[in-house]
Amino acid sequence: MNKYVINGGKPLSGRVDISGAKNAAVAILPAALLVEGICRIDNIPNISDVNLWLSILQYMGARIKRLGDTEVEIDSTDIRRVAPPYDLMRKMRASYYLVGAMLGRFGWAEAGMPGGCDFGERPIDQHIKGFRALGAKVEVRNGAIHAVTENGIRSGHVFFDKRTVGATINVMIAAACAPGQTVIENANKEPHIVDVANFLNSMGADIRGAGTDLIKIRGRKLHGGSYSIIPDQIEAGTFIAAVAATGGDVIINNIIPKHLECITTKFAEIGVDISEGDEYIRVSRPADRKLRPTHVTALPYPGYPTDMQPQIASCLCLANGTSFLTDGVYENRFRYVDELRRMGADITVDGKTAVIRSVKELTGAPISACDLRAGVAMIIAGLSAKGRTEIDGIEHIERGYQDIVSKFRSIGADISIVEYPDGNEVSAVV
Ligand code: EPU
Repeated sequence: MNKYVINGGKPLSGRVDISGAKNAAVAILPAALLVEGICRIDNIPNISDVNLWLSILQYMGARIKRLGDTEVEIDSTDIRRVAPPYDLMRKMRASYYLVGAMLGRFGWAEAGMPGGCDFGERPIDQHIKGFRALGAKVEVRNGAIHAVTENGIRSGHVFFDKRTVGATINVMIAAACAPGQTVIENANKEPHIVDVANFLNSMGADIRGAGTDLIKIRGRKLHGGSYSIIPDQIEAGTFIAAVAATGGDVIINNIIPKHLECITTKFAEIGVDISEGDEYIRVSRPADRKLRPTHVTALPYPGYPTDMQPQIASCLCLANGTSFLTDGVYENRFRYVDELRRMGADITVDGKTAVIRSVKELTGAPISACDLRAGVAMIIAGLSAKGRTEIDGIEHIERGYQDIVSKFRSIGADISIVEYPDGNEVSAVV
């Protein structure tokens, strides 16, 4: 088993490049199934969720060519109408996008129920509502989603009962080639939703309004083309949080500053200096300036993102007073709090709100990454703590962050990957 080992207490400085957005990539790759031709997709992050998608597409008959570290060519011309193995599907949340893509292409879909991080109940009723509005009969049985139509998917009108990223994207994918006009109301507005719409449009789709709560889709046949995925807003935010926690001065490069405003405004409010260039931001905090406590509520975009909720919790442990952190998206995204407590944090959770009282310091400890964003929150805590932190469960982190250890090392962090075959340290891997 590999773990991350961190010797904390060092400020970060230098420059770090941000990879392509995970949550855009995991929707764009299955959407490529709709294209009867060759798509070239660039700025793909090299993470395990992306590799899993490429294996699924290959299993279904797509021809995949890696054109470089971040570019891939997908030819879905001869894709087969088959259900991919359950074991591949259940490893990630985004597997539900295959249902939208297969419905769009074949008017039929079968896919294992999604896996992904455990934040309490994560229903898919809104996805199902959307597919039904497009004429599909949908059932969940034996751990899989089964969807059928009589003569292919058709257009429809969908009004979501709650705000959902996944269902907004899924209905957009399913309807991209459906004859007529589909309307989605009460849609989410995240940058990666706009990115999926832009990808589909660059392959010939006619999707308007993505980024607002009303999206209109006129079905079109899709053709091949080239597309470059947007930079990862949450990866960039994670580095902002790391500099906030450790202090230092870092340029975060290859980003779209506008996408980060929901994050940067909060970090500026708690005492981090942030200045903006065209494709970068500079983030700094002097060693002698303590962070200010705050109230944060994670909400759909343009609110503060739930995917940045654990990271700011690690920062607020060392703020100058008591903070209140509410997650307005998930029922229970606070499982990581027990791990922070092992490091000396003083946090109590009451329902959807964590009350974070400041402590003088965090101290290194053996801890676990219980999910993707919780995992990077543990890295941030370890970097700001006194002494040595060992993090297990790092496969969760590697699902969504490309080269995270080398990126942190490049800005001065003392972090390495260490192999522990029987729970005993033997050798450094990185
Ligand atoms: N929900 C329903 N019914 C549905 C769909 C969602 O009740 O049919 C609920 C969920 O249980 C949740 C809320 O609505 O409480 C929002 O869920 P949403 O559909 O927006 O989330 P998701 O599509 O499952 C994506 C990201 C998550 C990110 C959320 C919110 C992917 C693969 N996952 O999940 O990313 O937290 O949007 O922004 O894109 C992560 O990257 O760490 C991550 C968890």
